[in-house]
Amino acid sequence: MGLPQTVGFDEQTNELLIIDQTLLPVRLEILRISEVNALCDAIKKLKVRGAPAIGVAAAIGLYAVAYRFEEVSEDGFFYALEKYAERINSTRPTAKNLSWALERMLNCAKACKGQGIEGILSAMKAEAVAVRDEDIKTCKLIGEYGETLLSDGDTVMTVCNAGALAAVEYGTALSPIYTAKEKGKEIKVYSLETRPLLQGARLTSFELTENGIDTTLICDNMAATVLKSGKIKGIFTGADRVTARGDAANKIGTLMLAILAKYYGVPFYVCVPYSTVDFSLQSGDEIVIEERDGDEIKSAWYKETLVSPKVKVYNPAFDVTPAELITAFITEKGVKKPSELGFKL
Ligand code: MRU
Repeated sequence: MGLPQTVGFDEQTNELLIIDQTLLPVRLEILRISEVNALCDAIKKLKVRGAPAIGVAAAIGLYAVAYRFEEVSEDGFFYALEKYAERINSTRPTAKNLSWALERMLNCAKACKGQGIEGILSAMKAEAVAVRDEDIKTCKLIGEYGETLLSDGDTVMTVCNAGALAAVEYGTALSPIYTAKEKGKEIKVYSLETRPLLQGARLTSFELTENGIDTTLICDNMAATVLKSGKIKGIFTGADRVTARGDAANKIGTLMLAILAKYYGVPFYVCVPYSTVDFSLQSGDEIVIEERDGDEIKSAWYKETLVSPKVKVYNPAFDVTPAELITAFITEKGVKKPSELGFKL
């Protein structure tokens, strides 16, 4: 891969490292984080984003913050740890990987109660490394399984960024494309620009072209025209949270693509690690959908606000695709229909 890891861990200084994605593709800058306000700000403002990347950043970040606690008693340490984990968890509600990773770090710390703060920190450090390493392995496996669905010369479509910039390396939805390339298959990609924050235009197009993939950028409202042309072999997306029945929350616009895919007979694949699956929920209606500031639509990319100050704005960051519109999930355990996955339909 042509870029540094999206989320890294400086094990010497005990700091979280992230690529600041708000600066891409103009500048590639690495941020060092060891303080809770900076960590929350980075997740909230999408300096680090994408469900798996947020999870890994939270795991390493919580450890980096805890390493700097001035608490001398274990009770004080745990009080602060839980408070900070709660704060980090509240930054973005939709991605399951965030609470999954924080819970994993808290459970690891609790299992070491009574061993002293040094012992707890050393276990947490090993756990943070494991979360990062498992993400790399999982994404690679998603690529291996997903690649079997692709033939040399295929053209696929994707939305948002579920690539290397959304995980530590490779990503989920783009991993099959990178793996196919490694195996000598040339895959072309149509990337939706993904209003309002342009993850497709700024991030997916950038990382794909940096990795030598033939990429065509389209506005979101051009998807139907491209699908109607018959050139798209499959749509590959990621997800932020998948329910037990297989409903999948992903970047706003994904549902529109799934409906179009059904109409034009194009397979619709959702690429996820199991850490994205929330078995406590059945229906996608139960998923909390993050709503973001209206300025992201009204003014973020313009020199001046384009719309009347009197106008109201609705800015949901995600939508939910029902299991019935999903051809298959591509996971680290294989390519399976929702009903074969333990997602009960
Ligand atoms: O708001 P974002 O940029 O964090 O949204 C990201 C997505 O919707 C991704 O598709 C999802 O997190 C899966 S990433 C492998």
